[in-house]
Amino acid sequence: MAGRVPQSFIDELVTRTDIVELIGTRVPLKKAGREYRACCPFHDEKTPSFWVSPDKQFYHCFGCGAHGTALGFLMNYDQLPFPEAVEELAGRLGLEVPHEGGAGPAPTQHEAMHEMLARVAGFYEESLRGNERARQYLRGRGLDAEIIARFRIGYAPDAWNEVLRRFGATEESRGRLLGTGLIVERETPRPGSEPWYDRFRDRIMFPIRDPRGRVLGFGGRVLDKGEPKYLNSPETEIFHKGRELYGLHEARLARVKLERLLIVEGYMDVVRLHQAGVQYAVATLGTATTAEHLRRAFKLVNEVVFCFDGDRAGRGAAWRALQHVLPEAREGREVRFLFLPDGEDPDSLVGREGREAFERRLGTALPLSEYLIEHLRSQVDMAHADGRARLVALARPLIALLPAGVYRELLIERLSSEVGLSGERLQVLLAADDASGTPRASRGDTPPGRDRDSADSGTPRRRVPLAGRGGVVTQAIQLLLHYPAIAHDMSSEQLAALTEAPTAGVPVLHELLTQIRSQPTASSAALLERWSQRPEGPRLFELASTELHVPDAEAASRELAEALAGLTGRERRRQRLDQLIEKDRSGSLDAEERAEFQTLIRSLGGAAAPR
Ligand code: UTP
Ligand code: MN
Repeated sequence: MAGRVPQSFIDELVTRTDIVELIGTRVPLKKAGREYRACCPFHDEKTPSFWVSPDKQFYHCFGCGAHGTALGFLMNYDQLPFPEAVEELAGRLGLEVPHEGGAGPAPTQHEAMHEMLARVAGFYEESLRGNERARQYLRGRGLDAEIIARFRIGYAPDAWNEVLRRFGATEESRGRLLGTGLIVERETPRPGSEPWYDRFRDRIMFPIRDPRGRVLGFGGRVLDKGEPKYLNSPETEIFHKGRELYGLHEARLARVKLERLLIVEGYMDVVRLHQAGVQYAVATLGTATTAEHLRRAFKLVNEVVFCFDGDRAGRGAAWRALQHVLPEAREGREVRFLFLPDGEDPDSLVGREGREAFERRLGTALPLSEYLIEHLRSQVDMAHADGRARLVALARPLIALLPAGVYRELLIERLSSEVGLSGERLQVLLAADDASGTPRASRGDTPPGRDRDSADSGTPRRRVPLAGRGGVVTQAIQLLLHYPAIAHDMSSEQLAALTEAPTAGVPVLHELLTQIRSQPTASSAALLERWSQRPEGPRLFELASTELHVPDAEAASRELAEALAGLTGRERRRQRLDQLIEKDRSGSLDAEERAEFQTLIRSLGGAAAPR
């Protein structure tokens, strides 16, 4: 089997192929200004809303939302699988398709890693059967044999090289043990002993599996007081903590139809809940909930309940989770938050009160919007106009994270009744541009320059959320997609400062900047192709097909610098405001600080304080 095609080759293909020529031989294209249009080959229509851009080398249908590069077009129109579409394009350009790694292609490498992990998981299970102390521990935690088997829980023996000895006889197999994080290389080699040792020793082992059941890594718990309580496999080529949910495989296997997911914090919580019959419990892996987690969850169910400890740490984690959830919130998806009594976790609760009582608690979980407003209310003094303005200022960056739609409108409604402002007035407050204080030309649901066309075809435009709408981040991304080369004008300080701004879309922006900077010849099409299979892909295509009112690269570069400065400057102001709020709560602000506070609130969104 041939290896992977290098990304740089795919970049080259989509950059060098003339998409107008390629599509032109299959679909009759008519020139319209700088672009070409036709009736869309991917849906039925009478007025053309299918556009091909010779500058940016991609197509986009404003009717059905179909979009892609030359490569994507071949896959969709000619119904070619990816490797054949690559061959076809390469053939047209007279190029030979290179393959990485020759005999050891990436997919089988990964398969070998999965296989190694599965074998070691089996070994841990077997050692559990032979170790009375470990079995005793699990019994003490209330787990029965059936659930231990279902989750394939095991035990890593108290030895430095059992796994190494059993599974690492050859250089190749040792490579796999290292690659999967099962063994660790010694920092200072000792004469007479191996330069590696087992990562997991004397721990209860929880295999972490992907939804299909393949083992990706482990979490290992000490049996007594040791540190760290849980040791986890490191991130590897196949294991990404920000993506996986512990227990998802088991939840999918449960005979009952999966309708909701309950996201808890710990391994033991998941196992104990499943044992009690709550078979829709999953856990993040000692990391914060990410948007990726959410997307995975919403592919399976429409209802997600987060469950957090009632203590301070739990509340902090809940608030962080909320921020990751917002970009994924929309009508038809239900997200709720459940706080447990202080000092309890799902494991202890379900053990004590059983499934029914626990599930009754789920019924009392707060809907996302309620939790959001309740949390913000607790931070301000609602009796005063200042406090209500601050509530708006605090809500604003959060609302900006929500995709446009009914859900967002409802939340704004809800907020407006909370602060005693009309929904309209609040919309205006929320919509003012953060960075400059003036609305930008590119703001709005329909990108300028395209309004007419979509009105012509009479079809509504589809929006895919990326970074709220029309904000600075969106603008920066748009500039980059139109003029990739301007990424090189940014300094590494500007790039670094960006990572501190927690605004939605910033990770995408940052990744785009880094991609272009590491690939000096990146074209718009090459960039878009790289993102085409990712969740943000459609939105990026949409942004790239929105007309920009920027005359040239030089102007674009200036705008980008301004956008970045706005983004990071705004973040600095927001942090300062947080400091002052904190100080205000614990003591009091002096006159100067009070003035600063007012200025900050105004610049961050409380411009017209309600009366
Ligand atoms: P907790 O400390 O709440 O533990 O960590 P727990 O799940 O209640 O565990 P038990 O009941 O004492 O066995 C919650 C989760 O945080 C991660 C693990 O994923 C754990 O399940 N964690 C915790 C770590 O990764 N490392 C640690 O040292 C502690
Ligand atoms: Mn616990």
